[in-house]
Amino acid sequence: MIIPSKNAERQDRPPDTNLVPDSFKDDYVQGALKPFLLSGIYGGERPVLPMIDLTLSKEAAIPAHIFGMLYDSWKPNVEEEGTSVFLQGYENRGPNNERKKIYYSALTPDLYGPMYAEKIKRLLDQLFDEQNVDKPLMQQYYQSYFDMYWDLHLGVRGDDIPAEIREIGERFMNVIGYWYPTRRVVHDNYMRVRQLRDPLRDWLGQRVEDVDEGRIPNPETTFVHYWVKNGMPNKDIIFECFHNFLAFSQWGNTLYNIMKDLDAVTGEPSVRSWFEKTMTSGPDEMDNSPFTPLDRFVMELFRTISPNGGSVSSLAAIAQFFGAGYTGFSTIITPHPETSTAPHHWNNPHDFDPDRYKTATTSEQNDETTCKEVGLAQCPFSKEDFSVKDGRQADLTNSAFGAVYGVIDGEAYPVCDDAGYAPFGFGYRRCPGEFLTVDFVKDLLRKVWAEKIEFRRLNIADAKPLPVAPNMVVKDDIGFKKEQ
Ligand code: HEM
Repeated sequence: MIIPSKNAERQDRPPDTNLVPDSFKDDYVQGALKPFLLSGIYGGERPVLPMIDLTLSKEAAIPAHIFGMLYDSWKPNVEEEGTSVFLQGYENRGPNNERKKIYYSALTPDLYGPMYAEKIKRLLDQLFDEQNVDKPLMQQYYQSYFDMYWDLHLGVRGDDIPAEIREIGERFMNVIGYWYPTRRVVHDNYMRVRQLRDPLRDWLGQRVEDVDEGRIPNPETTFVHYWVKNGMPNKDIIFECFHNFLAFSQWGNTLYNIMKDLDAVTGEPSVRSWFEKTMTSGPDEMDNSPFTPLDRFVMELFRTISPNGGSVSSLAAIAQFFGAGYTGFSTIITPHPETSTAPHHWNNPHDFDPDRYKTATTSEQNDETTCKEVGLAQCPFSKEDFSVKDGRQADLTNSAFGAVYGVIDGEAYPVCDDAGYAPFGFGYRRCPGEFLTVDFVKDLLRKVWAEKIEFRRLNIADAKPLPVAPNMVVKDDIGFKKEQ
């Protein structure tokens, strides 16, 4: 395969697309490869406050070559095909981040135990079944992953998921894992995703109707139920259901890194000793801190693993003095690991220390007084509640810096709202899947502890490479044993 030469990336003339393999389809070259080569990605600053200014926009803020995976026309076509809140600038989300709050209505922490835990525990039970002892675990994870994924979204699993629907999920993972559109593996999987998107959309349309009309058992155990009830437009629900391939892919990366940290031989000693300490001294007891000991341990895993490397923003060029008149996409990355370990945020940024969250500031505490204390004349984000319409007594609100959280039956469920805790992003665009993700990891850890699961590197010569997250492929070489 001929890799495009360095010259092709110069910004002052269009890339020489003659240098790509002949087998790459022309629409792919024009729609994915060329925008990728023309775009620039820049490392941004480490925020001091837990927010990102609106100048760094979230509108269409994903790397340029991904649009063809999401839209037929290779670029956003929101009117006809819908969109995800992930791709929306604040100004397009309705008053006070309404669209985000509608998305969040399906992911508030009160729902985890009664609605979602069983579906997630089923995956964990399959993963750590006796018959998987000493097998490479990530392959086993992906055996159950799409059942869990579609069960959470739509209440379907097993034979009710058609082969084409499973295939598009796998193809999507290959594209995002292998990432660079110059690669043949990306091209081939990408084009297949585009072929399968129509059948996926049709299938999703019918399944969303099934949830809406109660044609599945327990519709309230699906995300779609809350999105419908709280007024998300139908085409956006369909879009969110497959755009979430990106969000959920990060669970693979997270799982792999937690197993690596807990590995009995090559793991991180401080993580292993904190795990033991946490699990032997009331992991779920409240101890005058906003977060339980197990919450704090999981938060510290996320701060140190940082499965998502940076918040992605688009930034318009205000001048371009040379060249062809087109600046390409400019993507700015607000970095997470660098912010989470900045010495201006912590005295011991490089220690594994879950106790740091005992006194950490929460989204509930960051109010008008905080704004005054940090020297602001007024709060950057107004604190307007969105009351859900799905029968619960739940108000979705936000901190003065924009981080959304829920007050359910009068009880607040805040997040740590300190810029030094960056793994789930910042402010109005902070991850709405945070609690679900933390709860998934808590259940993973409870199981590992209760069943005395020990992770170990497997001695296999040709471990299978597996895409586990955007731009990340790992060798599937971690297995487990159960101590007697
Ligand atoms: C390990 C797991 C995850 C990590 C580390 C993670 C991290 C993040 C980060 C850093 C952002 C901010 C991105 C930015 O500002 O550019 C974000 C946004 C988002 N995440 Fe997650 N995420 C995870 C899982 C999930 C899950 C499971 C869901 C859905 C159930 C989800 C849904 C979203 C959505 C919709 C946004 C956009 C929010 C907005 O712009 O308002 N994420 N996530």
